[in-house]
Amino acid sequence: MKTFRYGHDAQALLSESDLFVLFNNYRVYKYIIGILVALGKTDFPNYTILEPGCGSGSKLRFLTECRAKPENCYGLEMSTSAVELCKRLSPAVMNFEQGSALAMPYDDDKFDIVICSGLFGCFNVDQDVERLSGEIDRVLKNDGILVVIDINENFDNFYANTPAVMAKKLRIYDSQNGELEGLLEDKFTVVSRLPAFAIDNYLKPDGTPAEVSDLPMIDKDIDEGKQDCAYTLWVFFKKTDDDAPSDG
Ligand SMILES: C[S@@+](CC[C@H](N)C(=O)[O-])C[C@H]1O[C@@H](n2cnc3c(N)ncnc32)[C@H](O)[C@@H]1O
Repeated sequence: MKTFRYGHDAQALLSESDLFVLFNNYRVYKYIIGILVALGKTDFPNYTILEPGCGSGSKLRFLTECRAKPENCYGLEMSTSAVELCKRLSPAVMNFEQGSALAMPYDDDKFDIVICSGLFGCFNVDQDVERLSGEIDRVLKNDGILVVIDINENFDNFYANTPAVMAKKLRIYDSQNGELEGLLEDKFTVVSRLPAFAIDNYLKPDGTPAEVSDLPMIDKDIDEGKQDCAYTLWVFFKKTDDDAPSDG
């Protein structure tokens, strides 16, 4: 197995697949920041941010590197062990709670940004997706932004050989036909939909597995829409009363 030494920590040996995971994180962070900058949403020190279904809390910690204040970052998780992990890995003032995204323990209009990464894929029943979007709508400020990262219709191809992942029966949203946009359209307007990342199963045009040295080219190909992605990143604005069609 090829190994690499990572940045400032010369003791940390990373395998090639670790580097692909870092590449995927880099891509998703690049897209989150890129779209927030494009929308002029860069006042991170003054934002209150929520990640429901935060897993290990990595997205929130990343946003603190963009000057979000840890005390203004909130993670909500079903899993108590994930909440414990978040608390262990994050600054003590970050807010992590065990609970359901379908009944959030937060006041109305609290958040400037809500990020759902891999959460919508956990809900196979449309009514649950509607409950989730209703809760996000309630806790998000009127000028707030909803960022969704989730699996799309390419997922099966990338994961054909990983039954353990497929056994979780994650919901796959059809990004080409606006399935998620349709489910959220009562409350949210989509402003952006981008290919996000594809885990480490990239293939070169000749069908052989990509190597680390191919990553810059893969990055460019994804940005240019030449490389399929198993995940899509959507950004939504909240609909307000001002968006309702006027009479007459
Ligand atoms: C695919 S993981 C994504 C974790 C993290 N957001 C990330 O991007 O690394 C989905 C997470 O959502 C959590 N989850 C599932 N249903 C939930 C619910 N109803 N309320 C809160 N969290 C939930 C799971 O426990 C899991 O940690």
